[in-house]
Amino acid sequence: MKAFYVSLKPFLNHGALKRPTLWGTVFANDHPLEVEIGFGNGEYLAALSRADPQINFVGFEQYCERIHRTLRKLSRTGLDNVRVLRLDARAGFERYLAPKTVSRVHCLYPPPWPKKSDIKHRLFTGDFLKLVNSRLVDGGVLKIVTDHHPYIDWVKENIQDTGFSVESKNIPANYGTKFEKKWVEGGQSEFYELLLTKHQHIPVEVKEDSTLQSYLIDHFNPDNFGFSDHSQEGVAVSFKEILYDPKKKTALVHVIACDGPLAQNIRIVIVHSPKGWRVNLAEGTMLMPTMAVSQALECVYLAAKNSASDKQPLG
Ligand SMILES: C[S@@+](CC[C@H](N)C(=O)[O-])C[C@H]1O[C@@H](n2cnc3c(N)ncnc32)[C@H](O)[C@@H]1O
Repeated sequence: MKAFYVSLKPFLNHGALKRPTLWGTVFANDHPLEVEIGFGNGEYLAALSRADPQINFVGFEQYCERIHRTLRKLSRTGLDNVRVLRLDARAGFERYLAPKTVSRVHCLYPPPWPKKSDIKHRLFTGDFLKLVNSRLVDGGVLKIVTDHHPYIDWVKENIQDTGFSVESKNIPANYGTKFEKKWVEGGQSEFYELLLTKHQHIPVEVKEDSTLQSYLIDHFNPDNFGFSDHSQEGVAVSFKEILYDPKKKTALVHVIACDGPLAQNIRIVIVHSPKGWRVNLAEGTMLMPTMAVSQALECVYLAAKNSASDKQPLG
């Protein structure tokens, strides 16, 4: 059987990392730090790390399979100057990077969300640009490359008050990444590069973790469990499903917890114990302890409590 990775060392479990992370301690040196957002299959990240072993690189990517492929590529470089996290870049910048610590940020081909109705999903909003600015050192640079020209115009529209000056140019295919190759094969020969240089510091604080409480209730009826979507002050919780094992007297509740654009799929257990029914996060749930997760626990607790009464599930 083909091994997925030669070494797992570059992959970090973000749940176990100090926030903000002391990257000098992780890499055991004080080399400059650069970040790649959405590194995909890792072609560019591996090339960057090979080109400059005196720089430390951190990559944020959401898809496991792409991380697997990247780990294989990184093991071929034999270098120790890259770490990758399976994490939304928004959470990565908010919590894992201290202000003024990153010298350069790279992002090749962020999802363009070309439909007008989907523009809200794009990454480089004014708020995210301010966050990236705050983590860059003075004079630090954010490079964005896209195949979709309207994306460049959209980022330029968001640039006001973000502390960046901007330059853009048309470029040929330069990077040989999976997505770039796909577009080249489809006939595209021109791509677009934006260089944003930090000229003014915009302070954005490191987000604190929320305390995640566990709850205890006397009675619980899984057949009567449910709650409708809850949203308040930028935090939203949506109930997906409940699975109940009567032999183990354990329910597993799937919930989506959103802090603004940061969405997390989480699992909460309701398990019988000698003292009553405990409501807490399922073991092994790899998540950011955010306000939305704390709110999700409270919603599940209230719905579980309500399930034992004759009332309808909480609305
Ligand atoms: C179009 S692909 C480009 C991948 C790679 N850079 C390349 O050129 O082949 C966009 C990548 O960004 C990742 N991505 C999108 N939004 C992200 C976010 N908020 N945080 C981290 N990664 C993200 C996706 O998972 C995907 O792998």
